[in-house]
Amino acid sequence: MRPYRVIIPERRIKARVCSLAKEIASDYRKSVYTLCVLKGATVFHADLIRKLSGIGGPKVYSGFVDAKSYQGKNAGRVRLGNLPDVRGMDVLIVEDIIDTGQTLAILKKRVLSMGAVSVRVCCLLDKPARRRAKIEPDYAGFRIADSFVVGYGMDFNEEFRELPFIAELPG
Ligand code: IMP
Ligand code: MG
Repeated sequence: MRPYRVIIPERRIKARVCSLAKEIASDYRKSVYTLCVLKGATVFHADLIRKLSGIGGPKVYSGFVDAKSYQGKNAGRVRLGNLPDVRGMDVLIVEDIIDTGQTLAILKKRVLSMGAVSVRVCCLLDKPARRRAKIEPDYAGFRIADSFVVGYGMDFNEEFRELPFIAELPG
């Protein structure tokens, strides 16, 4: 296994997911449609919606969309899969990382064009150093420096998703 360095331990992730859920619950009083971006956001999304339920938050509807932009560590073209029916919904896109912002810029546009009432973005990590698209998350867990990270659902060539913490791979 490649070496890695833990940058955000499990207990900090847990605490932050809890405070994000509280913020979201105070903004969405009735219901929210969480759109989980596959595959990196699955662990974060699962924890977030359970926390929303645990604190008596809004009614949650959930769907998934496939998005691919990375091959190894090199940013490539964005490919989006089919979107679930989000007509009439207040959509909260749940993403692992916002990096160049290209994935979310394209996805946000697509969600609105499908007839969503509103769309916001919640990402676990914000890597502002490499932003190219004009987009900012509405909710962000942690700001990180420009490094390649894995764990808590995020991978390097499908490896490391199972780690309960967030770690940096040496460049
Ligand atoms: P963007 O379109 O450049 O913002 O890329 C966003 C997507 O690339 C994220 O949703 C991740 O799936 C992936 N990504 C970006 N940075 C990292 C990283 O450091 N580790 C793992 N995946 C990453
Ligand atoms: Mg992603």
